[in-house]
Amino acid sequence: MNNHLHYLNNMGITVWEQNSSRACSFTEGTTSPLSDWNALQQTVAACTACSLHQSRTQTVFGVGNRQAELLIIGEAPGFYEDQQGEPFVGRAGQLLNAMLQAIGMNRDLVYIANILKCRPPNNRDPLPEEVNLCTGFLEQQIALIQPKLLLAVGRIAAHYLLKTKSSLESLRGKLHRFGINQTPLLITYHPAYLLRNPIDKRKAFMDLQLTWRTLEELKFN
Ligand code: URA
Repeated sequence: MNNHLHYLNNMGITVWEQNSSRACSFTEGTTSPLSDWNALQQTVAACTACSLHQSRTQTVFGVGNRQAELLIIGEAPGFYEDQQGEPFVGRAGQLLNAMLQAIGMNRDLVYIANILKCRPPNNRDPLPEEVNLCTGFLEQQIALIQPKLLLAVGRIAAHYLLKTKSSLESLRGKLHRFGINQTPLLITYHPAYLLRNPIDKRKAFMDLQLTWRTLEELKFN
């Protein structure tokens, strides 16, 4: 089995077609000063703005390449993320890794961050007030990385970034824009949802192919 089929198999998908196998490259150019990153990371680590700081083991800042062309945005840390201080390290994270590998990417090429930096108790949905208080950090991460493309995984991230309550299904497959820089944004299913609803993995892979194609177009335009 070639690598591509192997990764799709890991995602639980049996037959897929891929455009080509290539790795996402880094953006050349200026890097945001380390001091900005350190200052932001320290601010996040010390944050007590909402009550989630009382139950967290640690904050979960983000991980990956600070010059990434693709920034993946999830919802909030779960149990394992809270323990390890890194986003998407549990079962959903393993599926996210397989999804990335299916389009020739990996965690070292992209940046991964969440809407919330602290774990909500019992993995409940983030409260609107928590989202309001926390998303300034994500916006600063976006400003530092200046990715070519954002990929929101799941309803919570999609609804925050697009300021909508529309169904995830209706938001997939379209290029949206986020923020003052009008950064291109795509939406797909959350890997935890896909673990519960494997039937939708095929649609998720279509979203990933669109992500890959969109990045290519953005690079050459
Ligand atoms: N789900 C998320 O949205 N983010 C994580 O970091 C882990 C699970």
